[in-house]
Amino acid sequence: MSVTRCLVAQEEVQKFIEKCMLTVGTRASHARSLAEVLVEGDKRGHYSHGLNRMDLYIKEIKAGICAKDGEPVVERESAATALVDGRNLLGPVVGNFCMSLALRKARDVGIGWVVARGSNHYGIAGYYALQAVKENMIGMSFTNTSPLVVPTRAKECTLGTNPISVGAPAKDGDSFVLDMATSAVALGKVELHDRSGLSIPEGWGCDAQGRLSTEPSQVLQGGGLVPVGGSETTGGYKGYGLGMMVEVFCGMLAGSQYSRHIRTWRVTDRAANLGQCFVAINPENFAPGFNDRMSDLLSLHRSLEPAEPEKPVLVPGDPERLHEEECRSLGGIPYHLSVVNYMNDVAKSIGVTSLLPADRVIH
Ligand SMILES: NC(=O)c1ccc[n+]([C@@H]2O[C@H](COP(=O)([O-])OP(=O)(O)OC[C@H]3O[C@@H](n4cnc5c(N)ncnc54)[C@H](O)[C@@H]3O)[C@@H](O)[C@H]2O)c1
Repeated sequence: MSVTRCLVAQEEVQKFIEKCMLTVGTRASHARSLAEVLVEGDKRGHYSHGLNRMDLYIKEIKAGICAKDGEPVVERESAATALVDGRNLLGPVVGNFCMSLALRKARDVGIGWVVARGSNHYGIAGYYALQAVKENMIGMSFTNTSPLVVPTRAKECTLGTNPISVGAPAKDGDSFVLDMATSAVALGKVELHDRSGLSIPEGWGCDAQGRLSTEPSQVLQGGGLVPVGGSETTGGYKGYGLGMMVEVFCGMLAGSQYSRHIRTWRVTDRAANLGQCFVAINPENFAPGFNDRMSDLLSLHRSLEPAEPEKPVLVPGDPERLHEEECRSLGGIPYHLSVVNYMNDVAKSIGVTSLLPADRVIH
């Protein structure tokens, strides 16, 4: 599939998203927080969780099911833990609040474990884990999401794509950053194949009878995504277990919505009330030399002889690092022209006149 790409400067995307969110009434600092997470998603190459999602946030604010203003509130607290009411604010506002609280606790007592209820979609999970990495700590973040995944041996979607992110700092700014959905792929990939009339590889999704299917329309209409690992024979039950683990840390600890009780994906008839979890761990409370060992672990893997010489062995976080380097060398973020045009139409529909440039086409 060949697509036309166009280059947009990071600051242009940031300002554009802020302006659109301000226009629908979001508090300025909240609009900025959302734009920062979305831009980071795009810079890291996770386009499914960047600018591409802006219309969903606008729709939820306009529908009055996500709060435009306010502050998250700490409901219960101990030296190392907190339960936060996200007050139905934008996910990144809740996420930033919880992660900075977790970091403060980790500085004080070695670990901070903070869970939130009353939250909304928060973008890439890695954004929050990375906040800890920047402070030389281990960071973790998890969120539950609308049901899209069919558990092993089942026929009904009862789990979201429930992402897991774990970041750990090495020396000289290097790091391990695992940031992954617990479904085999994102729903957007199946939708893209459907629109292009292409079949999908086996192990992405199943039909309404719970049988693996390579037909995207069967996955989208009555079927669902399968957990990471695919079918039972290829270890899909491990992904199923990880998706449920995310619910233990999020819905179960936070008392938010969970599993099939979370509203249907893209349906904006009520507040999402998502559960989220944010963890910071201070390596200084453990064996000395953590960063040195991390660097050794990373280089040990990166220096493995690759099975295919042109494909070097990577560690989690490397593909995103490479994408960020590409953005730096291009002097902006490359977007599909269709996404830029679509978001400009969304902006025009709410009265925003300063649009994204669509003329810097790259090949
Ligand atoms: N907020 C939400 O509701 C939600 C839900 C699902 C996913 N997400 C986000 O979507 C994004 C995409 O998730 P995904 O599962 O499609 O990511 P992905 O499959 O692109 O990458 C998953 C992980 O694998 C690593 N990786 C990729 N190739 C590798 C290789 N060859 N060697 C070693 N490591 C490698 C990446 O660095 C990353 O840590 C994530 O940022 C996630 O947080 C958010």
